[in-house]
Amino acid sequence: MSKIYVAPSPFLKGTVRASGSKNASLPLMACCLLSEETSALEEIPKLRDIKAMSEILESMGVEVSRYKTNLKISPGNLQNCTPPYELVSQLRGSFLIAGPLLAKYGKVKISLPGGCRIGTRPVDLHLKGFAALGAKIEQVHGCIEASAKQLYGGRVYLDVPSVGATENIMMAGTLAKGNTTIENASIEPEVVDLAKCLKEMGALIEGEGTDTIVITGVDKLSGAHHTVIPDRIEIGTFMVASVLTKGDICIENVILDHLNPTTAKLKEMGVHIIEGENTIRVVADSEIKATNVKTMPFPGFPTDMQASFMALMSVVKGTSVIVETIYENRFMQAAELCRMGANIKTEGQTAVVEGVTALTGAKVNATDLRSGAALILAGLAGKGDTEIGEIAHIERGYDNIVGKLQGLGAKIEKK
Ligand code: EPZ
Repeated sequence: MSKIYVAPSPFLKGTVRASGSKNASLPLMACCLLSEETSALEEIPKLRDIKAMSEILESMGVEVSRYKTNLKISPGNLQNCTPPYELVSQLRGSFLIAGPLLAKYGKVKISLPGGCRIGTRPVDLHLKGFAALGAKIEQVHGCIEASAKQLYGGRVYLDVPSVGATENIMMAGTLAKGNTTIENASIEPEVVDLAKCLKEMGALIEGEGTDTIVITGVDKLSGAHHTVIPDRIEIGTFMVASVLTKGDICIENVILDHLNPTTAKLKEMGVHIIEGENTIRVVADSEIKATNVKTMPFPGFPTDMQASFMALMSVVKGTSVIVETIYENRFMQAAELCRMGANIKTEGQTAVVEGVTALTGAKVNATDLRSGAALILAGLAGKGDTEIGEIAHIERGYDNIVGKLQGLGAKIEKK
């Protein structure tokens, strides 16, 4: 099994270009099922999760072809609405095909996504939305079978502003008869990007980016021609890499508004940040102070940045407190960071981090994609070599992270 080897790499410097967003790309690939025409998506990152989603679409008879970062998706010859468990179980984002299949073909049989290491991650709100649109839903042998001759607009209140549920219900509503209202909707940038693409396809949507989205159903949608937004979590990861290595990194292909929570926190810690039109430069040229972080839905601090911030706080003088409000079990990186010399105590949803002078290298394992990235960052700042196992997690969500860090001067390799 390949591993990633990281040696101490102070003062990373240079420019790196962010890839397209994984968490925008997956719903965008799913929404192509809403049209029989060919869709073209640009700036799609090269990730395991994208490959897995492509295989799921192909298993249903959809043609998917990639040229560099462009993806062409042709659902004209779709054969079935029952993707196999072996493929669906590889990624939770696969459940995002349920809404489009239900809306376009009136049926879907898909295995309930398994739990994942960071939490149970139910889909009850997705199903509540489909039911509100008139779908009949059964759970049989670990699969969800949903059907509806025709979906009708409905109103659904989301108990939590679920990103996936908002996306799935919004997609289902585009072909329903009448109006669908989603209350307490997610306002994450990836939801807004999906709405933008759906409107380019002919959907009638209002309120995206607010907590109430209204979709007016139409009879037909044309193919998508859309460029996915940059990956704000990959960008945030490189911002933290610059701070951790006392470097000077400029990231290109950014949308500054998507980075506000991360930028605000780093500025609060004393990091020097220079914002350009679509670039952000992070210069760690002064003493960094400890701070506290509480993960919240956008525009709160993103849960997907929590692990990287924990790595950063591990070597910042003082005491930092992290509260994780989105997932039940997202501190798995703490134990691995402690093996590198960090001083972190976790209790339920709270972690208390006492900054140490420096981390040491160690043999560690990634437990999910964001914790894997955090271990790479810790290795860059460590005082010794770090060997990271289970790197498939990292490759799910970071496009060529080893190559990009090498380009900034990092001593890192995969072998
Ligand atoms: C998306 O997951 C992202 N994944 C996650 O990124 C991200 O952490 C999460 O949003 C929150 O921002 C993709 O977009 C593919 P949720 P999603 O539904 O849609 C509960 C990464 O590292 N919930 O907003 O699954 C759920 O248990 C990944 O890139 C229900 O209770 O997240 C969680 O506690 C990890 N019932 C909370 O809501 C439901 O029906 C937020 O989940 C759905 C969710």
